[in-house]
Amino acid sequence: MKKILITDALAPSGKAVLVNAGLEVIEILGSDSEKISAVLPEIDAWIIRSGTTIGAHEIQQASRLKAIGRAGVGVDNIDIDAATSHGVVVMNTPGGNTISAAEHTIALMMSLARNIPAGDTTMKAGTWDRKSLVGTELNGKTLGVLGLGRIGQEVARRALGLQMKVIGYDPYVAQDQLIVNDITVQDLEKVIEEADVLSLHLPRNKDTLDLISTPELKKMKSSAMLINCARGGLVNESDLAAALNEGIIAGAAIDVYSAEPPVDNPLINARHIVLTPHLGASTREASENVAVQVATQIKDYLVHDRLNNTLNLPIKDMSILKSMGDLLGLALEIGRLQHPLHTAAVKSFRLSYNGDPNQIQPLLYSAFEGIMRDRYDGVINLINAQTVAQSKGISLSTLHDPALSHVQNVVAVTVESAAGVVWELLGYTDVQGGQRLTKVNNYHVDVLLDGPLILVLNSDVPGVVGEVGTLLGNFGINIAEYSLSRQEGDIALSLIKCDSAPEAALLEKLKSISSIRECYFLG
Ligand code: NAD
Ligand code: MLT
Repeated sequence: MKKILITDALAPSGKAVLVNAGLEVIEILGSDSEKISAVLPEIDAWIIRSGTTIGAHEIQQASRLKAIGRAGVGVDNIDIDAATSHGVVVMNTPGGNTISAAEHTIALMMSLARNIPAGDTTMKAGTWDRKSLVGTELNGKTLGVLGLGRIGQEVARRALGLQMKVIGYDPYVAQDQLIVNDITVQDLEKVIEEADVLSLHLPRNKDTLDLISTPELKKMKSSAMLINCARGGLVNESDLAAALNEGIIAGAAIDVYSAEPPVDNPLINARHIVLTPHLGASTREASENVAVQVATQIKDYLVHDRLNNTLNLPIKDMSILKSMGDLLGLALEIGRLQHPLHTAAVKSFRLSYNGDPNQIQPLLYSAFEGIMRDRYDGVINLINAQTVAQSKGISLSTLHDPALSHVQNVVAVTVESAAGVVWELLGYTDVQGGQRLTKVNNYHVDVLLDGPLILVLNSDVPGVVGEVGTLLGNFGINIAEYSLSRQEGDIALSLIKCDSAPEAALLEKLKSISSIRECYFLG
């Protein structure tokens, strides 16, 4: 039974998806690292939210791990590079908490503009203080949005409804790609300078760390308010505390912190600040959405081999994978057949294809997985094929070649080893779904790949087929198919499909037949 570890609170509906699919759920909440370490070697998938950090060490320990599912958006708590090099898929659940995060941002903006938390606190302390809590109207004011992705645009949509003007900055989104109209895309500096409310909606990474520090805070209007409902670390917390205490900006509302829960954080006692404990996605709806979404994605991968919302798959459009049907299996099989043909290390690996060019990259990785399965000490799959090739100095390439064959969707795999040996195998999937090998180097063959195969290169002289047949018979091997091919020259190639796998001694005997030049068991 496949095991799923859950280390952050997940809605019961998510767990139900896993259990109903026959997966075992191990729930360890409360950061008990000893308990977590003990189960890591057994787990097939790991589901987290923002409370768990998964580093290279944990990924190394989890030797069976196939997938990490993040119930939410931010993946800055996962070492994605380490996951990739171990062939572990990292998935998140974009969209599941977008509306909740956008609404929380608006709630923070309103709270700040109208001093609602302060009003609440003073009232509960028995004070009737209206004078010091005079607020600001948002109508007609400018909202600056940094990061025009899902949440940024949903915040903009709501702010437009409040009659605000919205400007935004996102180096990866062009004006005509925006779903929400009426956002004006500008450069970073202009957005910072012009915003009455500046709201951050971008990921934390090396480019965005400390994006808002003292120089940026000084460029903001002194009446401006800053909102961070995205990630801690985007705003330098000491600089912001100083800017608030010195009146450089008017106020801030913060939901996320560089360390959570915050420890000695200068923002806690800063002036004119509204703080919430990472509540952006904390609604019943979002918790439900991300739990069901992440659990479904993990189940789909572990049970049906289907991928969704993968962050480290080196293939741009995941819908391509869905359209490929049996093709990935064909490429895998042709790659696998190459393995016994090369005793030396693989030097270069090329996949040629005459079908849809968009399918060529996944085919390459799948075929490479095929040859490396028995050569690589670790998991190899579509996720880490490129990384493994790089680490082993193997050059991977593709060739889209419409002239490869008159048959549709033909896959050819050409491998050169460090010993200078080159083999090219070519095949396709027939209408019944059978995988057929139709060419080996320049030899035309036609063999259905549904049984153990022996490949023989022999001098084209009379009597070889008889000798081979007799020897196989002596070893009790029944021949299912004998495909003989020759080209100009004196070497013939045979593919012999057997009813059972030959033992090593039989192959040695075959090699000792004087007319046989080379002989391989392709499996
Ligand atoms: P998204 O991927 O849809 O949008 C992020 C946008 O940021 C993208 O459009 C991207 O192009 C842009 N971006 C990346 N680097 C940038 C840069 N250097 N400058 C400007 N823009 C840049 O993600 P989303 O779902 O909108 O989430 C946005 C952020 O909100 C994430 O950090 C996510 O983790 C966080 N989040 C927080 C909560 C919460 O509870 N507070 C809830 C959900 C999401
Ligand atoms: C996210 O990135 O999805 C949010 O921060 C919410 C969460 O951490 O659960």
